[in-house]
Amino acid sequence: MGALEFEAEILEQFDHGVIVLNSDHEVCYWNHRMNSFISTPASEAVGKPLNECIERLSNSILNEKIDLCFSDGMSQILSSKLHPELVDIFPFYKCEKRYFAMKVILSPIFGDSQKYCMLQFVDQSPLLAHEDYVRIQAETITEQERRHEEDLKLANIGQMAATVVHEINNPLSIITADAETLQFEKKAKDFSYIKAKSERMLRMVDRISQIIKGLKVIAHQGDWDISDSYSLVDTLRESFELSSEKVHKNKVLFMHNLNDVEDFEIVCNQVQISQIVVNLISNACDAIVNHESKWIRVELSKTESEAEIRVIDCGPGLSKEVKEKIFDPFFTSKPIGKGTGLGLSVSLSIAEAHKGKLWLDESYKNTCFCLSLPLEWEFEEEVESEDS
Ligand SMILES: Nc1ncnc2c1ncn2[C@@H]1O[C@H](COP(=O)(O)OP(=O)(O)OP(=O)(O)O)[C@@H](O)[C@H]1O
Ligand SMILES: [Mg+2]
Repeated sequence: MGALEFEAEILEQFDHGVIVLNSDHEVCYWNHRMNSFISTPASEAVGKPLNECIERLSNSILNEKIDLCFSDGMSQILSSKLHPELVDIFPFYKCEKRYFAMKVILSPIFGDSQKYCMLQFVDQSPLLAHEDYVRIQAETITEQERRHEEDLKLANIGQMAATVVHEINNPLSIITADAETLQFEKKAKDFSYIKAKSERMLRMVDRISQIIKGLKVIAHQGDWDISDSYSLVDTLRESFELSSEKVHKNKVLFMHNLNDVEDFEIVCNQVQISQIVVNLISNACDAIVNHESKWIRVELSKTESEAEIRVIDCGPGLSKEVKEKIFDPFFTSKPIGKGTGLGLSVSLSIAEAHKGKLWLDESYKNTCFCLSLPLEWEFEEEVESEDS
């Protein structure tokens, strides 16, 4: 403060908020009125960069104007009078959820050895027409929500990246250990030992490629050819064939209603729809492994606008904790090395790419997952409207 050549007491009398910045945009003065605008006392603000004190100002064009204020040419022009370019009005958020429409006036101040920039914050809310005030308030809230959503997305990406690293690191460390053993251990001359180790390495490589494949689907980088029509009965029969080994091995009674329903075609990627059904049947087999009399039933039905495929098993449904997480990538309740936890999240991504839905249907007393797919494909219309 001492370096500033003006009387701080005068500024304290202002009904405006007043901030003085040095050329690094650090706060060197902050009057008490600022405190009532954004609930930050001078003791917390002084010495900090402006953007840390007023988050709302980050990325704002105001920062550019502050720079302008410090630039030589502009400072000379502006040394005696305010320039309209350096006046900004923007909606302003106060902690207690009151919104101000704030006019900010910038002016350069010349000290002996350095320049400062003074910002006056003038509350314009009482002057605004009610509808303008409401509009500004709505814009501010939308902007804040958008930022909040972005923050959440970034946090999720971070979480996801950490999980991917963990999931890929595990098999990688097994591969590394096996490779080192084969290189240095005496037993490595024994053919069956080499065979066992290399088989485990291949299993781990397969696991990594499964994870990558699943992530590609979730990231919509897979093969999304959804242009041909396929019979749903054929698609389901193919899925049953692919699941039959696991179903038989687990001694599960498998039932379906395909002989009783009229076949119909839908536009889909047949391989991917089949992948969902195989996933659901595989999950059902795992879930009922300890039941005495095991059964799974698949039902195909049709509403006016949708095809519905239900995979029901003899299990009693899911607990609240499990239910909340089943569609999260990498959530699994299976033993280590058994499930990647990607099955349902990949299935959900596929269903959504088909404009369909996948959900746990709790109207059944047993565990029931339902996949619904639109009978009419409306992609062409969307593409047309995007073009126009
Ligand atoms: N039919 C079901 N009954 C009970 N729990 C289920 C059922 N289907 C899924 N779950 C639960 O949801 C979790 C996530 O399933 P998901 O298919 O995404 O992964 P996973 O089966 O564990 O692993 P992966 O599919 O990679 O083998 C399962 O681990 C299980 O806890
Ligand atoms: Mg699964």
